[in-house]
Amino acid sequence: MNILGIETSCDETAASVVRDGKIIRSHIVSSSIKDHQKYGGVIPEIASRRQMEWIDGVVRQALETARLKLADIDAVAVTKSPGLIGSLLVGLSFGRALAFAIQKPLVEVDHIKAHLYANFLAFENDSAPKLPKLPAIGLVVSGGHTSLYQITDFDRYRLLGETKDDAVGEAYDKVARIMQLGYPGGPVIDRLAQKGQNEEIKFNCSAFPDSFDFSFSGIKTAVLYHVRKYPELDMQHKEKISFAFQESVIAALIDKCVKVLKKKKMQTLLIGGGVAANSSLRLKLQETARKQGFEVFFPPLSLCMDNASMIAGLGFQLLKNSPKISKPPK
Ligand code: KG4
Ligand code: ZN
Repeated sequence: MNILGIETSCDETAASVVRDGKIIRSHIVSSSIKDHQKYGGVIPEIASRRQMEWIDGVVRQALETARLKLADIDAVAVTKSPGLIGSLLVGLSFGRALAFAIQKPLVEVDHIKAHLYANFLAFENDSAPKLPKLPAIGLVVSGGHTSLYQITDFDRYRLLGETKDDAVGEAYDKVARIMQLGYPGGPVIDRLAQKGQNEEIKFNCSAFPDSFDFSFSGIKTAVLYHVRKYPELDMQHKEKISFAFQESVIAALIDKCVKVLKKKKMQTLLIGGGVAANSSLRLKLQETARKQGFEVFFPPLSLCMDNASMIAGLGFQLLKNSPKISKPPK
């Protein structure tokens, strides 16, 4: 079964074709990030305008790359929520109209859950990667969300904990802004942190010891107060701050994952979302998994950020599990 996936929840306009919920035949992602950078964050109005301009071409390109025609598509999967309302509307309207025109089923997919599905995908030319098995614990770490799920099936996700304020990616972006490092902040802080190892600067992440919830707004404010003490920051100082911030944030994430795996007696951990690209999170969680005897899965870097392959993949599974949505829209 070939599913055409469409994703337009934030600044990306993305389309993919995925076979049988597993094999990526095409993976097109077009981002308007450059148009937002001068504002220090995504401007919803600009994002949705670009998506209106680009969606037709991006979908065509996804079909061409997969060497398929519209008639070869068995269903359309599109991001339903969460996201920027204007952006979501572009993808949803396009996907609904397309499914109606080709008289194929339409499946509307949750963006957050799809991030975790990225772990179940492989590119057409990959040598068979080891894929996870359910049940599992899933941690989504993105620009808008930080959530822990217990996943028993692709349509059975139970939310166990989430951030009570800023998402972890949002905290990276804000800390980068405080230090005037540009947007998005995650990749640059990750890079600076690798050069900034030190013992002098320490930040703490608030913890909720009795729950699986997170908080990242306090540490962001602590960085702000630290930075305010200095009229100017040189690069070495920024590296040290980045290191101290990242150490604390990553430790808080890993601590909750270990606790939840123990409490739920689970052996498999799936990570998804933009912050899953973080080098320290990948390294330290893999180390912890080896020591504590659980398995951790990260998507390849190209599948950590927003993309439509994860939407097509999860869409296939939802379609398989629900005969109700497997009819063309009327
Ligand atoms: O999942 P995503 O592409 O979009 C949302 O659904 O939010 O995630 C984007 C977020 C941004 O906040 C970005 O700063 C963060 O992921 N990010 C990173 C890294 N690469 C991207 N955060 C930490 N380390 C990274 N290497
Ligand atoms: Zn996302």
